[in-house]
Amino acid sequence: MQGSKWVIRLPAVAAVVVFAAVMLPEVSAVRYIVGANMGWTSNVNYTVWAQGKHFYNGDWLFFVYDRNQMNVLEVNKTDYETCISDHPLHNWTTGAGRDVVPLNVTKTYYFISGKGFCFGGMKVAIHVHNPPPPPSASPIRSGSSGLISTIRGQVFLPALFAVAAVWDSILLLL
Ligand SMILES: *[C@@H]1O[C@H](CO)[C@@H](O)[C@H](O)[C@H]1NC(C)=O
Ligand SMILES: *[C@@H]1O[C@H](CO)[C@@H](O)[C@H](O)[C@H]1NC(C)=O
Ligand SMILES: *[C@@H]1O[C@H](CO)[C@@H](O)[C@H](O)[C@H]1NC(C)=O
Ligand SMILES: *[C@@H]1O[C@H](CO)[C@@H](O)[C@H](O)[C@H]1NC(C)=O
Repeated sequence: MQGSKWVIRLPAVAAVVVFAAVMLPEVSAVRYIVGANMGWTSNVNYTVWAQGKHFYNGDWLFFVYDRNQMNVLEVNKTDYETCISDHPLHNWTTGAGRDVVPLNVTKTYYFISGKGFCFGGMKVAIHVHNPPPPPSASPIRSGSSGLISTIRGQVFLPALFAVAAVWDSILLLL
C-alpha cells in the first residue's frame, strides 16, 4: 500500500508541474478590448484609446462589434493611412463580431474596418514591444496585472506545494 501511494503521486506532481509550465507565460499576458466599453465602432478615436497603453508581444486584442456592419482587417502602413481595404495582410473577421488577434510579433500592427468605416476614423495602429522585464524590475502596468504579478511571484510557488500536499493527503485516505 505504501508503494502504490508513490506510484499514484508521481503523475499528480507531473501534472502540476506541466500545469505551471503552461500557465506561467500566460499569466502576464493582457487581453485588451479594443475601444474598452465602446468596442470597435464608429465615432471612437482609437489613437486616443491606444495612447499610454503598452502592448507587449504575447498580449491579445479583442474586437467586439456589429458583425453586420464592420470588420477587422490588418493592413500595411500605406493602406492604413489611405484606408484601402482591398488587399489586407490578414482578414481577422470570423463573422461573429467577436475577433481575437494575438499580438505575437514585435512590430506595429495596423487595423482598419473596411466597408467605408475606416474613412470615418475606424482604424488603430498598435505598437507591440518585447515582453516586459520580470515584475519586480518593472513598473506596474495596471491595477489588475499588478495583482497577477504578486500572485505569480509570491503565492504561486507555495500554492504549488500546497496542491501537492493536498494530493498527498487525499491519496493517503484512499
Ligand atoms: C502596402 O501594400 C501595397 C499594395 O500591395 C503596396 O503598394 C505598398 O507599397 C505597401 N506599403 C508598405 C508600407 O509596405
Ligand atoms: C474576411 O473573412 C470573412 C469570413 O471568412 C469574409 O466573410 C469576408 O468577406 C472577408 N473580408 C475580406 C475583406 O476579405
Ligand atoms: C501568430 O499568430 C497567428 C494566428 O494564430 C499565427 O498564424 C502565426 O503563425 C503566429 N506567428 C508567430 C510568429 O508565432
Ligand atoms: C484622434 O485624436 C488625435 C489626438 O487628439 C488626433 O490627432 C487625431 O486627428 C484624431 N483622429 C481622428 C480620426 O479624429
